[in-house]
Amino acid sequence: MLKSIIRGDLLKCRCALPPGEVARKSKMVIERLLEMEEYQKASAIMTYLHFRNEVETTGLVRQAMADGKRVVVPVTDIFNRRITPSLLVRFPEDLEPGPLRILEPKANSRRLYNPALIDLVIVPGVAFDLEGNRLGYGGGFYDRFLLLIKPEAVSVGLAFELQVLPRLERSPHDIPVNYVLTEDRVIKINCTGG
Ligand SMILES: Nc1ncnc2c1ncn2[C@@H]1O[C@H](COP(=O)(O)OP(=O)(O)O)[C@@H](O)[C@H]1O
Ligand SMILES: [Mg+2]
Repeated sequence: MLKSIIRGDLLKCRCALPPGEVARKSKMVIERLLEMEEYQKASAIMTYLHFRNEVETTGLVRQAMADGKRVVVPVTDIFNRRITPSLLVRFPEDLEPGPLRILEPKANSRRLYNPALIDLVIVPGVAFDLEGNRLGYGGGFYDRFLLLIKPEAVSVGLAFELQVLPRLERSPHDIPVNYVLTEDRVIKINCTGG
């Protein structure tokens, strides 16, 4: 099926989730993440800042900062379809809505952070499959970004169950994630599967 059709259908379903359910399920997803050894060992974590009924990441940002980790968040360059990590110092004071209305660091609060120093990347998505394939919003922002992290860094997609499909098409430029976490399960992707 066409990526654009799946995208539209799933975004509609996700938008229909009542706010209370989004908050409750998001907490469950974040709890699973905080239990992971890869989280506990990470010194620097990059996370998206949720919008439009994505799995909420506020709890993760607060906990990671409290745990003494470096938290970096994306700054969006719409023109070049790229995201650049920026170290977050004050949360939420340093943030304001960016070009896509997603929160990002204000111009004078940006501290560019080397992607090669990131241990764990938390990836948003419209859908994921059981092999870690990801359907994004159609800009390829994370496909470009994930090329820049070190090979041993771990990428984790966060999703509600309704966003997990058995099989998504993978284009040559698509970069799969190492884990998908939902309110119900941890899906660990077997890297040797290709
Ligand atoms: N690493 C890359 N270099 C150049 N173009 C890329 C790269 N990754 C993705 N793209 C381009 O970005 C566009 C959107 O990618 P797609 O995978 O469909 O979106 P998304 O990952 O957001 O679902 C595609 O046309 C693709 O060719
Ligand atoms: Mg892609």
